Amino acid sequence: MKVTVVGAGAVGASCAEYIAIKNFASEVVLLDIKEGFAEGKAMDLMQTASLNGFDTRIVGTTNDYSKTADSDICVITSGIPRKPGMTREELIGINAGIVKDVSSNLVKHSPNTILIVVSNPMDTMTYLVHKTTDLPKNRIIGMGGALDSARFKYRLAEALGAAISDVDGMVIGGHSDTGMVPLTRLATRNSVPITEFISEDRLEQVKEDTKVGGATLTKLLGTSAWYAPGAAVSGLVQAIACDQKKIFPCSTLLEGEYGMDDLCIGVPVVLGREGIEEIVTIDLNDDEKSHMEESADGVRKTNSLLEL
Ligand code: LAC
Repeated sequence: MKVTVVGAGAVGASCAEYIAIKNFASEVVLLDIKEGFAEGKAMDLMQTASLNGFDTRIVGTTNDYSKTADSDICVITSGIPRKPGMTREELIGINAGIVKDVSSNLVKHSPNTILIVVSNPMDTMTYLVHKTTDLPKNRIIGMGGALDSARFKYRLAEALGAAISDVDGMVIGGHSDTGMVPLTRLATRNSVPITEFISEDRLEQVKEDTKVGGATLTKLLGTSAWYAPGAAVSGLVQAIACDQKKIFPCSTLLEGEYGMDDLCIGVPVVLGREGIEEIVTIDLNDDEKSHMEESADGVRKTNSLLEL
């Protein structure tokens, strides 16, 4: 199992670290355009191997895509992150060119790879990869929902005063401050609907805190987050590498599912060795449906800015 991570910034390095620590991949190639940067991060990470007990070999390279050849999975984190006060959508101008270039180089060297897109605005970048590469739709995955769901579970556990491992819940829709649709109706605390434990008002607060989870961190850190994005990516990579058939909300090309067509947006999917092996359709109520529609309108608006 060979995994490439493009972009050795905070998110990319964190992806490489979590993938290595889980010890299921033989090799992780970290690639960056900044001279020596990926090599340095790879060396630093390799010096943690004996301490953290992993055998994954992490290799760094300055833009040499031949080193990424025959990767089973490639993760694109490149591009600029948002600064406080910015939306993810505002990054499109610079990031679209970068993502197009990076995905074309990756597919050239690994024509059968599975691509995970992390760069923002993520749903639109995932759509761009569909439009500009020949990869089949099951091999193009946008990472947003897994991260947003982790933030949702954190906020839910906090509001419930419960153990996070007891809390289950999912966020679908676009990976944006206004586009996320946290499915509070279906969230549970050890199988019991969470609505049994907290008030409507408190739940509304959890929803709002979840949606601005990334923005809140960006304000605190001065740049966007990396630990949770890295951990979320490593979860998707592991599910694919180990053929786990796990369900995660991921951005995928919809062709009629959820009544939507020709856009990438977060919905639950089954991840296994073939990438997205199934799109799971859940019955949404009218309120959730209308939130999904609004979310899709936002994603379509951002997609319309692409020069395809
Ligand atoms: C975030 C970025 C990765 O939500 O989109 O932190």
